Amino acid sequence: MFIEIENVFQSFGDGAGSPPVLENINLDIKQGELVCLLGPSGCGKSTLLNIVAGFIKAEEGSVRIEGEVVTAPAINRLVIFQDYGLLPWRTVGQNVALGLEVKKVTRAEQNIMITKYLKMVGLEDARDRFPHQLSGGMQQRAAIARALAVQPEILLMDEPFGALDAITRMKLQEDILTLCRETGTTILFVTHDIEEAVYLADRIVILSANPGRIHAVLDVEMPHLRERTSDDFVLMRDRVFKAINLKHEHPLEYYL
Ligand SMILES: Nc1ncnc2c1ncn2[C@@H]1O[C@H](COP(=O)(O)OP(=O)(O)OP(=O)(O)O)[C@@H](O)[C@H]1O
Ligand SMILES: [Mg+2]
Repeated sequence: MFIEIENVFQSFGDGAGSPPVLENINLDIKQGELVCLLGPSGCGKSTLLNIVAGFIKAEEGSVRIEGEVVTAPAINRLVIFQDYGLLPWRTVGQNVALGLEVKKVTRAEQNIMITKYLKMVGLEDARDRFPHQLSGGMQQRAAIARALAVQPEILLMDEPFGALDAITRMKLQEDILTLCRETGTTILFVTHDIEEAVYLADRIVILSANPGRIHAVLDVEMPHLRERTSDDFVLMRDRVFKAINLKHEHPLEYYL
């Protein structure tokens, strides 16, 4: 398996008797697969993503990528953060260049990549602006462009489209899919949104909270790009709803 998450446990050292944040998390992800993590606020989605990214070392258990235990972040394994993570002192273009600089891409090539990816997210006119001059959705798109420009092997996305309007969101969902299918990128994608998960995922992993555990794993066996109004799509959405409702006493804790 490409990514192997084994017996991950995380409590952040809270000995006060509250349940651990993550418990008994086991998940294998194939190369090129798109796995959506779906779960209520506070169930540990971001924590799990940060463990896979190498920002947090799990208190117990391990994450392996191609057999190697993850001990630190790496440029081929990029995170798109829930809070954008843009550097405020850099322009949008300079932010997109960030990973390319780390990869020692030439200036000329950087320019081509910056243009290409800013165009993809519809920010070609904002290249010389600073993050604080952009709306939340624009900042999020800049962060997406920055990550995609590096062409990472693994993309870890933490509610990347949360701040976007529905139209932009749908367009970027399609772009991400098309691009990542072309490049074989493996994606772990956190979302609250059932429809987004059904549109994107090869597999949907449903987490429950307190403690964060895997409660259901659903294969989504529809070819891409999916038609959101098709019978198959609606049926799959219902299956996810049911999986959530059946597994939890308080399904409304989910943002539906
Ligand atoms: N560094 C930390 N120290 C202590 N507790 C933490 C830390 N990071 C997260 N937590 C706790 O772990 C739990 C899970 O947080 P996490 O951010 O992973 O949830 P989430 O599923 O991403 O939620 P949301 O959907 O709101 O983003 C929360 O109760 C949070 O308070
Ligand atoms: Mg989160």
